[in-house]
Amino acid sequence: MENKRIYLSPPYQNGREKIFANEAFDSNWIAPIGPQVDAFEREICEYTGALHAAALSSGTAALHLALILAGVKQGDDVVCSSFTFAGSAFPITYLGATPVFVDSEESTWNISPTLFEEAVISRKKIGKTIRAAVVVHLYGQSADLDPIAAICEKHGIVLIEDAAESLGATYKDRFTGSIARFGILSFNGNKIITASGGGMLVGKSKDEIDHARYLATQARDPAPYYQHTSIGFNYRMSSICAAVGRGQLTDIEFRVQRRREIFARYAESLLSIDGISFMPEAGFGRSNRWLTCMLIDPEKIHIGPEELRLSLEAKNIESRPLWKPMHLQPVFADAPAFIDGTSQRLFRTGICLPSGTAMTDAELDKTVSCIIVTLNGK
Ligand SMILES: Cc1ncc(COP(=O)(O)O)c(C=O)c1O
Repeated sequence: MENKRIYLSPPYQNGREKIFANEAFDSNWIAPIGPQVDAFEREICEYTGALHAAALSSGTAALHLALILAGVKQGDDVVCSSFTFAGSAFPITYLGATPVFVDSEESTWNISPTLFEEAVISRKKIGKTIRAAVVVHLYGQSADLDPIAAICEKHGIVLIEDAAESLGATYKDRFTGSIARFGILSFNGNKIITASGGGMLVGKSKDEIDHARYLATQARDPAPYYQHTSIGFNYRMSSICAAVGRGQLTDIEFRVQRRREIFARYAESLLSIDGISFMPEAGFGRSNRWLTCMLIDPEKIHIGPEELRLSLEAKNIESRPLWKPMHLQPVFADAPAFIDGTSQRLFRTGICLPSGTAMTDAELDKTVSCIIVTLNGK
């Protein structure tokens, strides 16, 4: 039997990507402006309820611009979820600001409002200016935004939602990314929809998002010649990428449902094993279950996540450790951090299982049996 590799989260095509891409080719709108880019921005707004959007070359670029719009300057503090991918934190350093990492709460695996407040109070006490906060909706599960927003409001901190992994997830009936003053999305290859690569900055103010587009297009002033009054970036999305993204967005609800189904199948098959648990879904919204994340309790099961990963790999099945928290990254060794051990424990005991939209039931069965056989080994 063919041993086809089962990937963690490969792209899934529905066929409409090519229709939009052909429109771009046929009309010769293949440069990084034009109807495909405009339409993708509009359609993301229609789906998420965001008011304005700028399509960009990556989620990281979107976050960089959001931080600039928030007024982040050299020497400022920016509070950031520690349990995340580095793309949430790197842009803070591009501006010479200091990332202040905050640990997770158990119920969402996202930033703890209690530790968030502690971080804000303690940094202010030593005279730091906290300009912004990057709050991540990890693996498609929304953070508990209301208490965070209240703390931000009280202390004049601009809240930025990092919804790179959570398109289609909700918080109290609103789509993640569209709730705070700024939100960022990613369409890189492993996300729930891909634009082949790309990101989006969404926000509430037309002027701010227009300004982001200006900065993203090398800050070209409206003059007949090339004139610049600001430092700019080459951050716009290409029309071809936008066309691919548009095609993918047409069945986003199916994608969310399929990923939730995959999660449910893993949970049904594995939860009876003593010592296995999964990333919780908070009561205040819908997770898009971008990746199914499983925990193995070392007190009860003597096979660790790395042994399981290697055992899956031997069967040509891709899995991945959970994100290594930012406060444990060598590059951020000197960054201030407000930590209670939660994300470190999750990192040590967790694993991301294959969760692609196109994953078949047979592939799921194969993955589940490999997990059961491996965990029964000890
Ligand atoms: C939580 C998070 N933030 C930011 C990013 C950066 O997005 P991009 O890869 O599009 O730059 C990613 C994904 O890669 C992510 O998972």
